[in-house]
Amino acid sequence: MSEQKKFYITTPIYYPSGNPHIGHCYTTLACDVVARLKRMQGMDVMFLTGTDEHGQKIEDKAKEAGVTPQKYVDDIVANFKKLWELLGISYDRYIRTTDPYHVESVQNIFKELYDRGYIYKGEYTGKYCKPCESFWTESQLVDGKCPDCGRECVDASEEAYFFKLSQFGPKLEKLLTDEELNFLEPKSRVNEMINNFIKPGLQDLCVSRTSFTWGVPVTFDPGHVVYVWIDALSNYITALGYGNSKYNDYDKYWPADIHVMAKEIIRFHTLIWPAMLMALDLPLPKKVIGHGWITFGGGKMSKSSGNVIDPFVLCDRYGVDALRYHLLREMPFGADAPYTNEMMFNRINSDLANDLGNLVSRTVAMVFKYFDGKLPTDREAEALDEELLSMFDALPADVIKDFETLHIADGLEKIFKCIARANKYIDETAPWVLAKDESKKTRLATVLYNLLDCVRRASILLSPVMPHICPKIFEQIGATAENTTLDAASVRGALAADVEVKKGEVLFPRIDIEKELKELEALNPKKEEKGKDLEPLKEPCVFDDFLKLDIRAGKVLECENVPKSDKLLKFKLDDGFGERQILSGIAKYYKPEDLIGKTVAMIVNFPPRKMMGYESNGMILSARAEDGGYRVVELNEDVKPGADIS
Ligand code: ME8
Repeated sequence: MSEQKKFYITTPIYYPSGNPHIGHCYTTLACDVVARLKRMQGMDVMFLTGTDEHGQKIEDKAKEAGVTPQKYVDDIVANFKKLWELLGISYDRYIRTTDPYHVESVQNIFKELYDRGYIYKGEYTGKYCKPCESFWTESQLVDGKCPDCGRECVDASEEAYFFKLSQFGPKLEKLLTDEELNFLEPKSRVNEMINNFIKPGLQDLCVSRTSFTWGVPVTFDPGHVVYVWIDALSNYITALGYGNSKYNDYDKYWPADIHVMAKEIIRFHTLIWPAMLMALDLPLPKKVIGHGWITFGGGKMSKSSGNVIDPFVLCDRYGVDALRYHLLREMPFGADAPYTNEMMFNRINSDLANDLGNLVSRTVAMVFKYFDGKLPTDREAEALDEELLSMFDALPADVIKDFETLHIADGLEKIFKCIARANKYIDETAPWVLAKDESKKTRLATVLYNLLDCVRRASILLSPVMPHICPKIFEQIGATAENTTLDAASVRGALAADVEVKKGEVLFPRIDIEKELKELEALNPKKEEKGKDLEPLKEPCVFDDFLKLDIRAGKVLECENVPKSDKLLKFKLDDGFGERQILSGIAKYYKPEDLIGKTVAMIVNFPPRKMMGYESNGMILSARAEDGGYRVVELNEDVKPGADIS
């Protein structure tokens, strides 16, 4: 017997600084689909997820809540696990970075890197933003404030250990550009890593802190705790038993087949993580896949946004598989996808209730109506059948390829094209007309059999995405364990010739969109205090102070990312007098090309400032959005560049 093939897939380990939201659900669901598919292919799968529980943010949040950090994370981790159970996430292992075995491994890894000369002691100085737990250089600050969150930074310096990331540039570039390895997907991200980070020169990475205590202590230097990435990234091997005796799966599953995450942490997984593994002389993961963001009102949905849509409520009201399907269907590979409840309702009504649900219920109802629930075995094929059946023949290979490369939305689209074709086949063959003619009974049975068999084949392929509903469909159409394996999706006519169907519940009830939107709105927690989340109003000032500011309209001519900064955008603007260069810390909230052509408001009489080596001649005005991100203040199209704003 040949040895069973191994497959190891991971989600990021999430910060339990707040409850899980549908952004976390997407990544975890995508991994779940691949894990389920691989198990259907007979592989020995290890699907890992978990939580990244250390750091100052958690320490501060716990203090705010008046509990210990451990109690704080325990409560939130319980909610993560509850949600994964509700969503049917088939993870094999859940790692918490506070688990003692992980702590032990991280200490071993840190020491090993130190002994090998890849970690050294130095001094860290910079501007420190407490909420973001980030040190910044002066030039990275935007208007003197944290480029991430816009809050005040304080001067800080501390003794710290550094990892020699700077010496891995050439090796990392080779890894990322190796065509055969195809290490990072989507490919578009490769250039971003090379141009923004490797080419400008990688900096050594600060890997310990003395300013907080909620972390893994450095064994050989009390007072230092391991800082973020060494603790977090190493989870992918410590969970298998690397550096500890809790598990013994490292040799079996490492290297990982796929690390999945969203785009903002690709950098850490394709630069720091491989460099750490190279320094430890360990094999590298086979692939990193970075998907886009689920956006909400234009920005990334995040824990800090008050308006996060509660996945528990959505599952409860509309069904787990409906939410699974919607999230997986809506996210195109590598791109962002907006989430609105209305989009989800439309998707459920059109794809699930109308197309799939109707196909199943109409077909089963006709088998009852015309044959008392059990088909006769004689057949009479017609040319028309071939078109439908051959579409289903081609489907499994395509869908499997899409799913395993995380092009899940594409695979689903293909399945639903076939489902639509099957619905059309009902209209073309008009079983209700055939039923009126006794001599057409055999043809009628053939049509209904073909439909049931197509439902079977589509549902096999849908089952990694909708693992709760598909077994119910199998039951209704009289499918069995033998004819619902993955291989059976490629087989025509695998249902028993005298198949017997069963009446079942409505699979996807139609949603009354208006009514549901109103009800969800009513569920939204009311703000207890108006203006509570806003910046407090400032001291009064005199009009003359305002007049000192020269605020003008500027038309964006060019806009691009600043190398080595994931915060700054560099603008070239027409200010009515000529061209003006301004840098603004809003890169996280926009694609540069989306800003070109917009007319924005800017202050033009601040003295020039250097930021990341570029001169900035002014400031573009932005407003804070609901999700905590920033949006530029846009002006009407008929406002000419240079127009003064007062
Ligand atoms: O970054 N759309 O944790 P995190 C899509 N602890 N995916 C989203 C999302 C959104 N709006 N919001 C979150 C961390 N995600 C670190 C990771 S790994 C060694 C350490 C998903 O809680 C997505 O996978 O901020 C993203 O990369 C991850 O959650 C970030 O989770």
